[in-house]
Amino acid sequence: MQLNLENLPKSLELVRADVDIEFRYVDQRLLPGELVIAATSSWRDVVDTVKTLAVRGAPALGIAGAAAMALWARYDGETKLDEVSHIVANARPTAVNLSWGVQRALEVAHGRASDGDDDGLGAAIADDLFTLVQDMQTEDERTNRSIGANGAELLAPGSRILTHCNAGSLATYFYGTALGVVYSAAEQGKVERVYADETRPVGQGARLTAWELSKAGVPVTLICDNMAASLMAQGRVDAVIVGADRIAKNGDAANKIGTYGLAVLAHEHGIPFYVAAPMSTVDASLADGSGIVIEQRAAEEVLAHPIKGVDVYNPAFDVTPARYIAKIVTEKGAFAPKELEARL
Ligand code: MRU
Repeated sequence: MQLNLENLPKSLELVRADVDIEFRYVDQRLLPGELVIAATSSWRDVVDTVKTLAVRGAPALGIAGAAAMALWARYDGETKLDEVSHIVANARPTAVNLSWGVQRALEVAHGRASDGDDDGLGAAIADDLFTLVQDMQTEDERTNRSIGANGAELLAPGSRILTHCNAGSLATYFYGTALGVVYSAAEQGKVERVYADETRPVGQGARLTAWELSKAGVPVTLICDNMAASLMAQGRVDAVIVGADRIAKNGDAANKIGTYGLAVLAHEHGIPFYVAAPMSTVDASLADGSGIVIEQRAAEEVLAHPIKGVDVYNPAFDVTPARYIAKIVTEKGAFAPKELEARL
């Protein structure tokens, strides 16, 4: 298999354009039909891209959060720091990486503000935040490549891997977490095929993972979410690998709705279930997954044409109990959920 990662775009990037800075992003709402790289210099637009899923995926949200803060510092002389950081950090509630990215920006801004001299403070903070985002981008790719290498060690040659949602390059700056494991294993000739769950209701698997893997040259078969059990029963899945949006200290992991069901199915069929995520996705303030806030999204995502008298339930995430997770694969290594706390 010839891996063609150079066919994949950077999913988001804060760049200098002459004297300005701008946030460039793949508008994921338009994939797979069109690959459009959009740009904005407004932090409020970045918040909007996050809310509307133009930019999505936990690690990408961390970078987007910090990038929004950098744009605020550069262009918005009105809105107060507390207000902007609150709005950005709360654009989506479940992925801890978003507030983590904002927190990193706040540390930089507060560090600079405590330097004293007010002259040119705004410009200096903006420069520091620009540098922070560049560092986060580089770090993210390096982290993902380490996650990939650590996860690939768990896979045998000829692996058929089932994944859910998109925890790929598109969900990060580059390379991906769960799909980072796929790419690293594919480079070692270990991947026979990836089964991509369609991932109702928004279709991250059908629209994004299928597109990304085919661009990268990895054999991919798209299935509807309700086909995973039958595929497993036929012995056609060797491992399930997914990403995560927030992991509690005991290893309970929130990820795209439907992940929990897959974990139960994998357990029933004796298939290892792996969660691949950076350590920044671990929320050390939570003892277990019961405290994870689950984002509820609009009814229209489930039912495009509302029917009078029909209510819609649309949680964007669910929590997989740690007992179903064979290994959590991070940049620090792959370990059993009960070992996670010792690595923090
Ligand atoms: O609603 P989304 O598309 O942002 O949900 C994303 C996921 O659930 C991903 O699996 C998770 O963020 C891991 S991304 C590396």
